Amino acid sequence: MSYFSYRNGELHAENLPLSAIAKAFGTPTYVYSRQALVDNFSAYANAIRGNGRDEKTALVCYSVKSNSNLAVLNLLHSMGSGFDIVSGGELLRVIAAGGDPRKVIFSGVGKNHEEIRLALGHDILCFNVESVAELQRLNEVAGEVGKKAPISLRVNPNVDAKTHPYISTGLKENKFGIAYDEAFSAYRAAAGMPNLRVVGIDCHIGSQLLDDAPLLEALDRLIDLVDRLEGAGIHLHHLDIGGGIGITYDKDKPVAIGDYLGRLFARIDRWRAEKHGGAPIQVMFEPGRSIVGNAGILLTEVEYLKHGETKNFAIVDAAMNDLMRPAMYEAFHGVQPVRQRDAAARTYDIVGPVCESGDWLARERSLALEQGDLLAILSAGAYGMTMSSNYNTRGRAAEVMVDGDKMHLIRKREEPGDLFRLESLLPA
Ligand code: LLP
Repeated sequence: MSYFSYRNGELHAENLPLSAIAKAFGTPTYVYSRQALVDNFSAYANAIRGNGRDEKTALVCYSVKSNSNLAVLNLLHSMGSGFDIVSGGELLRVIAAGGDPRKVIFSGVGKNHEEIRLALGHDILCFNVESVAELQRLNEVAGEVGKKAPISLRVNPNVDAKTHPYISTGLKENKFGIAYDEAFSAYRAAAGMPNLRVVGIDCHIGSQLLDDAPLLEALDRLIDLVDRLEGAGIHLHHLDIGGGIGITYDKDKPVAIGDYLGRLFARIDRWRAEKHGGAPIQVMFEPGRSIVGNAGILLTEVEYLKHGETKNFAIVDAAMNDLMRPAMYEAFHGVQPVRQRDAAARTYDIVGPVCESGDWLARERSLALEQGDLLAILSAGAYGMTMSSNYNTRGRAAEVMVDGDKMHLIRKREEPGDLFRLESLLPA
């Protein structure tokens, strides 16, 4: 189902015309569909239930970095989601949104002392540890506060996720995780540290994966390691396969969540039956994009049209600071006019007002446009707002959640005063 579709010639979010949102809150504005979030999360929840599991044996920990708006987090929490965080700030967001810290896993290569103390204080579910040095720091800080830190090692299975190099994370040359060949000895070291409790294993091989074959290959490598650890007396309670399933940006055809989870659980069940007398292992997922990506668009207005000899530009009021993905990864986002015009189309580059040649949102799109038209930049729900910046002293966009025919402002537009509020002049 498409949550953004034309009705009476106008693009709607669920049952609400997008022009109503522009009128109420201005542009650029991120617009999310509540139903899309519910359905995308349900695809995981239903596959978990359909494969005979409950929250104790399978847990979705939504990856907060993909879209961290409190309303999004709160909605997912209400559906039973846990959270994958990568900073103390994200933990505070989860708590502010009513999320349960005991369902939080903490990933990331650079956790500092303060973040570790904060997470220990909130009794999070697990630290996904990315180096031996981090194990040592965790052991120290946990000792200081008199706790045992639950840990999992992020193992780098060295499989090729076949995605954009900037968002591929599971190869040897990436900075993430502990090399597969070193993982066993790192586990031994962890098991010997008095203030750690070894509970799991995790990996995350990359993002925007269309096929689940690399994930199942990574799973096989983790399974091998879990068995070897078991042989050495290190018993793991959970296995976290990470996130990574992609969405449709252009003509991409990602694997269906139900199919992927079905294959994954079947593999795990076979393994547990053969080697562990059917004893279950808790399975965790860290999806981000597959939950929020297609639940959001970026609504923008055409400020100027510039027709040139070699190129036509539509200069819109959204820019690379609002949606960084095209500038950073040459990512493709579909563009649709909110109202289709009955006029000859021309080929446009859709660009923003920021003073960089890299400030483009879409290239060579055939559109019939007039100044003042509204456009929707599609599939912008993941890594859109969270990667936005204030470059060029541009306030970040507003965020609106649509529920049926109702709109809710879930983040106000930033005003220039907000942007320099923390700055001060030198003394006279
Ligand atoms: N777990 C870990 C440890 C991660 O690093 C990530 C994403 C996820 C889970 C969620 O992955 P997802 O299900 O969303 O693929 N900014 C880039 C994507 C960076 C992904 C970073 N890690 C983009 O806009 O495409």
